[in-house]
Amino acid sequence: MKVLGIETSCDDTGVSIYDSKEGLLINELKNQNKLNFNFGGIVPEIASREHMKKMVDLIEKIFIKKKFMNKIDLISYTAGPGLVSSLLVGATFACSLALSLNLPIIPVNHMEAHLLSPMLENKSIKFPFIGLLVSGKHTQLIGAHKLGKYELLGNSLDDAAGEAFDKTAKLLGLKYPGGPNLSRLACRGLRNKFHFPRPMINHASLNFSFSGLKTHAAKIINNNFLNIQDKANIARAFEDAVIDILLIKTKKALQKKKWKRLVIAGGVSANMVLRKNAEIMMKNFFNGEVFYAHPKFCTDNGAMIAYLGLLRNKESKICQSEILVKPNWSITKVSQI
Ligand code: KG4
Ligand code: ZN
Repeated sequence: MKVLGIETSCDDTGVSIYDSKEGLLINELKNQNKLNFNFGGIVPEIASREHMKKMVDLIEKIFIKKKFMNKIDLISYTAGPGLVSSLLVGATFACSLALSLNLPIIPVNHMEAHLLSPMLENKSIKFPFIGLLVSGKHTQLIGAHKLGKYELLGNSLDDAAGEAFDKTAKLLGLKYPGGPNLSRLACRGLRNKFHFPRPMINHASLNFSFSGLKTHAAKIINNNFLNIQDKANIARAFEDAVIDILLIKTKKALQKKKWKRLVIAGGVSANMVLRKNAEIMMKNFFNGEVFYAHPKFCTDNGAMIAYLGLLRNKESKICQSEILVKPNWSITKVSQI
């Protein structure tokens, strides 16, 4: 079975085809980084217009040039969570294609797709596991019991981890998207030259708060004359703080559930220091394993949407003509479409 996956939840336009036997056949992705850089971030109206242009090009390329038009068996698309104007573009394309080609269609949850994205290349990952979902909009600890059954253990009360990376990167004068650029700068930073707080680490809940880190960075940056080494030292201290906070809470979640498997997913899971420290923690404290996707599948992409479409199709096939989007769709309610 070949599944066409369509992703337009934010600013990345992703269209992929995943085959149940052969794996990923097509993985097309276009970003809007240049535009976002000019505007200093994502402008929803501009993002949705760009999705429209890019989606036409990508569908044409895949259907006409690569001759996949009559080879698709199922369409899946991101119905939420995300920016409503961006989601509507993907949903409209997906539903129109399904209607004209007479294909079944499955709306899927973007966060569930991130969570399961490491399975694209590693089929040995088994439930149950703790999921640390770290993206530009979400920071969540998930108890993943089985496909479709997810328990929210912890959540960010304000900024997401990726958002904190992006905002602090901007304060440091780095280009959009800030996360990877800040992390690159941090590699050249010296430890313990600056110190960032670790909010909520002793709080009984598994919730997070990251907005104070950005404020702390603003104070340091505005009150000092900084050379490039100072900036690298700030980036180092900031990254260390975010990763410490994420892993302290993740450790508590693993202890609470008494599970030994950890999946880290979402854009921030591309961060190499987070991966390395998570590996050390899982080995030393749990004698367990940590899984993450290839960096190209950590940030938004169509492959994870096509793959989730395939998994969901085994459970239930949904045929619909309604253009459905759910901008606030929680991962705990993925079965309620
Ligand atoms: O999952 P994603 O593509 O989009 C959302 O669904 O939100 O995540 C994007 C986020 C951005 O905030 C970006 O700065 C961050 O992931 N990110 C990183 C790294 N690569 C991407 N943050 C830290 N280190 C990285 N290497
Ligand atoms: Zn995402």
